[in-house]
Amino acid sequence: MFKQLITTIFVSLFCLCLSAKTAATATWQIIPLPKQVTTTGGQPFALSGKTTIYYANGDAKQKRNAEFLASYIKEITGINVATTTRKGNNQIQLGIANVTGGNEAYHLDVTKKTVVLEGTTHAGVFYGIQTIMKALPIVKDAKQVMLPAANISDAPRFAYRAFMIDCGRHFFSVDYLKKLIDVFAMHNINYFHWHLTEDQGWRIEIKKYPKLTEIGSKRSGTITAPRSEQYDKVPVSGYYTQDDAREIVRYAAERYITVIPEIDMPGHTQAALASYNELGCTGGPYDVCQHFGVIKEVMCAGKAQTLQFAKDVINEIMDIFPSQYIHIGGDECPKDRWKECTNCQAKIAELGLKDIEGHSKEDQLQTWFMDEVAKDIRARGRKMIGWDEILDGTPSKDITVIGWTSPKATVRAAKEGHPTVIAPIQNFYFSNLRINKITGIPSIERVYNLDPYQDGLTAEEQKNVIGAEGCIWTEWVKDSKKLEWELLPRLAALCEVQWTQKEQRNLDSFLQRMLHIHDIYRLKGLNYKEDIEQAIKK
Ligand code: ACM
Ligand code: ZN
Repeated sequence: MFKQLITTIFVSLFCLCLSAKTAATATWQIIPLPKQVTTTGGQPFALSGKTTIYYANGDAKQKRNAEFLASYIKEITGINVATTTRKGNNQIQLGIANVTGGNEAYHLDVTKKTVVLEGTTHAGVFYGIQTIMKALPIVKDAKQVMLPAANISDAPRFAYRAFMIDCGRHFFSVDYLKKLIDVFAMHNINYFHWHLTEDQGWRIEIKKYPKLTEIGSKRSGTITAPRSEQYDKVPVSGYYTQDDAREIVRYAAERYITVIPEIDMPGHTQAALASYNELGCTGGPYDVCQHFGVIKEVMCAGKAQTLQFAKDVINEIMDIFPSQYIHIGGDECPKDRWKECTNCQAKIAELGLKDIEGHSKEDQLQTWFMDEVAKDIRARGRKMIGWDEILDGTPSKDITVIGWTSPKATVRAAKEGHPTVIAPIQNFYFSNLRINKITGIPSIERVYNLDPYQDGLTAEEQKNVIGAEGCIWTEWVKDSKKLEWELLPRLAALCEVQWTQKEQRNLDSFLQRMLHIHDIYRLKGLNYKEDIEQAIKK
């Protein structure tokens, strides 16, 4: 009996040593690369089923963070880790502390006994949790995995790190958007820009104007290819109720992502005009558009009724979305109808607008219209954000400009004193297959190598560049597979532009680190462009 006991103890100890030696090990070389990683050379932390995650009693947000971490550990390694409010050893301890680097900063101290993760705020802790998740080795049903002893100090380079999805051209379900929000979260994105209205579909319930969704959310077919003039006769429909939208806001907020709603105006509004013909210059009739491009039918800026509509819609939107930023579009608004419209021309005369160099009187009518809506946005303590065409007038300096037409648009906005975001079509439009092809390493390089601080900006002007945004427009994206091919792995490249310090960015190092994030995509059942992986491995 005694001999048997000794043998059992010996065998168990032997197995324990062996498993410690052979246990899979995490790597802190993750995406986005943290600001500072110092490996201390100490003994690693052994994460096992006996490890617990500590959070302070009564701290509901930290409890949720702890639960996120436990679920990620389970998903990546198969290890079940309990959460607790009692401090001890063999523990990942989450806490709030004054960490250098601002609100989203965190610090990780990994030793043999504990992993101490502190953030300036709960958001900082959440980013530290994302780091741990991406560092973990992917193993099935592991007994334990090793976390190398290290000190990590991390904070983002830019405060505005966004991704936009166009749900106007094609509708994506609430459940699918939640899946995308999880993908954004693992890339440290903090804004989901939700493009909700288009010529081809109005997708958000507005109680005061029910026809917007009764009529405007449905079209009876779609052009089959650019300039084909063939229509597929397949109906497309769908909209988000206000409760759906609130649910998306809640889900995103738990992941420290703010949802910025966009109601695009005065252009890209044919679905609204189809619902309420009187909002257009000609009075219609209009249909919900079945083809794509820049559409001449736009809202009539000369009618008081149209401005009231815009204000009513934006006020309902502000009731649903707590975001500081409220996006009211402003892009691609042809002035053909306004030039012919007696209401628009009467308004131009009333306002005393004249053509001036670089700004036609119709451009200025648009600026006036947008500024009127912005007054309601400001009155509720929010900020207006719009596409770079708003610079064609002379908008108020507090308006944030997303530069999409080229990197120069961001430079112009910054020089003119606007807070601005870089999102050029050539680099950050992941859906533009003509000038931004998906395939191969060049598709990564084009994203990775664009720096938000463009040449020609002074240090003072650089301060106006608040961040970067990627966009997927869905004219030719009907399903999740194509959307994910466009998104991944380029989102990984974008997030390093948004988060990591410029001097740390290096394409070769990034490509090597990318292979592990591909494994995570695969584990999560996400579609991504595997040809890039094959090119790296060659
Ligand atoms: C845009 O791509 N029209 C903003
Ligand atoms: Zn008009």
